[in-house]
Amino acid sequence: MKLANRLNDFEAYLGTAMNLILTKMKEEGKDVINLGLGDPDVTPPEHMRKSLADACYDPNNHHYPSFYSPMPLKQAIAGWYERHYGVQCNPETEVLPLLGAANGLFHIHTCLLDHGDTALVPDPCYPSYVAGVKIAGGIVEPVPLLRENRFLPDLDAIDPDMARRAKMIWINYPNNPTAAHADLDFYARLVDWAKEYDVAVISDNPYSKICFDGYTAPSFLQVPGAKDVGVELNSISKAYNACGWRIGFMLGNPEIIAAMNKIKSHSDRGIFYPLQVAATEALNGPDQFMEERNQMYRERRDVVVEGLRKCGIDVDSPKGTFYIWAPLPQGVSDSKKWCFQVLDEIAVWMIPGSMYGKYGEGYFRIALTHPVERLAEAMDRLNKFLG
Ligand SMILES: Cc1ncc(COP(=O)(O)O)c(C=O)c1O
Repeated sequence: MKLANRLNDFEAYLGTAMNLILTKMKEEGKDVINLGLGDPDVTPPEHMRKSLADACYDPNNHHYPSFYSPMPLKQAIAGWYERHYGVQCNPETEVLPLLGAANGLFHIHTCLLDHGDTALVPDPCYPSYVAGVKIAGGIVEPVPLLRENRFLPDLDAIDPDMARRAKMIWINYPNNPTAAHADLDFYARLVDWAKEYDVAVISDNPYSKICFDGYTAPSFLQVPGAKDVGVELNSISKAYNACGWRIGFMLGNPEIIAAMNKIKSHSDRGIFYPLQVAATEALNGPDQFMEERNQMYRERRDVVVEGLRKCGIDVDSPKGTFYIWAPLPQGVSDSKKWCFQVLDEIAVWMIPGSMYGKYGEGYFRIALTHPVERLAEAMDRLNKFLG
């Protein structure tokens, strides 16, 4: 089979391969704790599940969804951004429903990059940014996220020639994997920088509703002029505990939204109509449950941060996401080797930092998607392992 050369340029998504390994270990009777999974262990609120079930019973809801106007969903998305961030977007021209944020973050590269074009990509980052750039034939220029800069990109350190060459920059706060957060000052500087160098900003914000300690994550679109330079991706996956629904959205620059619409008119036939109905109700509906849910993640965060500190690991306590990004124990330098050794010896899986890029080496990521007792058990095992 004459497969395309581009397949050699990027790795398959790690989660899929790891799931096979972990499932096999479980079948062998091992009590595996998978701290790699960025998928909430809690369900969407009851009213969402009921509305999805009801919409499935309507015989009219099983056609190609592109035959229906997605307008109610677009209006709900625009309304949600206005309510939560005070951002106004025209539902017709500045809002695009997606099959999860992942759907948008894949196609955005085809919209912005021609062969050989440069994309500035944070390192470490969510791996699909790198894969997306390469599949589109673009060139990845890493922008280091360093602990001494609170894992924010140092815009002044980006070489001006490279900035002028770049067509896009990825931004993601609250951040996966580092769990770092950004404030509006940072976004304001970013918008100025993007205007100066004519670079499109793609802000990936699916953790915007997972925040603690009084912190509320802003939207990049809150900065005046942001829509001139970019778009934001968001989704109900983490905000509404609904990763499996595959509902996301993009808002902002109308030229990018029109380009995405053109690409997506060929790549898919839209969102299953009952999911559109239920997502519309969710976005228009109550969201008080998020407070209690975030309190749950905060308690889990505290158990893991305390557990790691007891192990002698100097970890920061994050204000957002359900991840902990921790430096490797003293004397360890190879995150991949160490994480697989931990898996082998104590059946706890944590993701090696190097999987997220060169600057991720020296760290590992834990997802707080397990009950407190299970996380405490994992920390206990780790403590004994590090002895
Ligand atoms: C940073 C980031 N962007 C995008 C996604 C994909 O989100 P969705 O489920 O909306 O496709 C994830 C999922 O883990 C993520 O961590």
